[in-house]
Amino acid sequence: MAKRKGKLKVGLIGSGAIAREQHLPYWRELEAEGRVEILGVCDLIKVRRETEAAQCVQAVPYESYDKMLADIDFDIVDVCTQNRVHAPAAIAALKAGAHVLVEKPMAMNVRECEAMIAAAKAGKRKLMVAQHMRFEARAEKLKEVIESGALGSIYTAETKWLRRRGQSAQ
Ligand SMILES: NC(=O)c1ccc[n+]([C@@H]2O[C@H](COP(=O)([O-])OP(=O)(O)OC[C@H]3O[C@@H](n4cnc5c(N)ncnc54)[C@H](O)[C@@H]3O)[C@@H](O)[C@H]2O)c1
Repeated sequence: MAKRKGKLKVGLIGSGAIAREQHLPYWRELEAEGRVEILGVCDLIKVRRETEAAQCVQAVPYESYDKMLADIDFDIVDVCTQNRVHAPAAIAALKAGAHVLVEKPMAMNVRECEAMIAAAKAGKRKLMVAQHMRFEARAEKLKEVIESGALGSIYTAETKWLRRRGQSAQ
């Protein structure tokens, strides 16, 4: 894959809670550092796409990701929609030639995940699921302890995460 010179062109699909609170603030930091330019923000909800786009330097708000992907040649598309839209949006972005970061869970089922991976391979693009917790210090430490053999042979593990917030109905 050829290394691109200059700023990476970023598009975002789904400007709800996680995009507003976690993804866009960091994309904007990278934009302020001159490393990326956020060129499109897409959401079905007008106020969400317009509010978030307005806080970027030059992002255009879009209702349709197909239209946004047709208009702009992105290097990276960040998919932050509800789970059911992950596969279609990611595949559309991969087919349009962008690398894709997609929120977790990756998709609704294995069939969708495989279709996403196939689209990434076909276009020689990167597809990354935003499994950020595995990069957190506590997870990395746990992995290190397990791999050191200090806990012996691990034959079972259990983890829980309670989500107490909903998602939009759209
Ligand atoms: N919010 C969190 O704390 C959190 C944490 C981890 C993972 N996630 C993941 O992030 C994703 C989004 O979660 P959220 O809480 O931001 O949900 P949300 O409902 O607040 O935001 C999703 C947004 O996607 C938009 N959308 C839906 N279909 C679309 C389409 N076809 N085109 C354009 N926009 C579309 C919706 O209008 C909505 O604004 C989910 O997959 C979730 O599992 C969220």
